Amino acid sequence: MRDPYLYEGSSVLKNKLGIREQDKLEDAEADYVVFRLKEIVMNPIPGSYDTEHFLRMHKHIFQDLYDWAGEPRIISIYKEEDVLGGLSVEYSDPFDIVSDIHHVLSTMREKPWKEMDRTAISKEFCDSLARLWKIHPFREGNTRTTITFCCQFADETGIKVNRELFEKNSQYMRTALVAYNAYFADGQDFSKKEYLEKIVYDAFGG
Ligand SMILES: Nc1ncnc2c1ncn2[C@@H]1O[C@H](COP(=O)(O)OP(=O)(O)OP(=O)(O)O)[C@@H](O)[C@H]1O
Ligand SMILES: [Mg+2]
Repeated sequence: MRDPYLYEGSSVLKNKLGIREQDKLEDAEADYVVFRLKEIVMNPIPGSYDTEHFLRMHKHIFQDLYDWAGEPRIISIYKEEDVLGGLSVEYSDPFDIVSDIHHVLSTMREKPWKEMDRTAISKEFCDSLARLWKIHPFREGNTRTTITFCCQFADETGIKVNRELFEKNSQYMRTALVAYNAYFADGQDFSKKEYLEKIVYDAFGG
């Protein structure tokens, strides 16, 4: 199927700025997104950490760029990963996205965060973050949205998190999320949790 999110005959996402070159779009995207992420740190997006709140977070971050900001994707996505020898993580089927987010977030909200020590908090945070990320609800911008949303949740739950560590190591974070989610419906499991758990533990340092 042709990807309806792309300009005809191109691999560039249709965007509000009318940019048709990938490198220029990436530059513009980075500028707008950095501005919106700073805005969110100063003024958190209010909500009850449910599905609607999560979608609204993406809408806020990508409002300047994409008409579909805040809307779950309507196509399947597949992203080849070097660390998986060219395989993709098995992201959610478009028809399951909303119910999958609902399930992951209700589990995250109900965890007994206040009763856990730093190691347990880190592990449980990674579990929720990685499950939410594996859904990949949007055509683009999943990693930034998921990390921002989970960090804001941690803050509001009273867990101090060093977000800068994630920003400065954004490539490591993405690879760690891929490694965490390297398990497949056919039963193959290459999952490695330790990379994500290490950086999250460090980010909860105080
Ligand atoms: N937490 C962050 N803060 C600021 N910039 C980030 C952050 N995470 C990633 N980036 C930057 O955003 C750009 C896009 O990253 P990437 O494509 O991996 O994530 P995404 O678009 O948010 O999610 P995905 O492509 O998986 O849907 C990269 O230049 C990356 O360095
Ligand atoms: Mg991306």
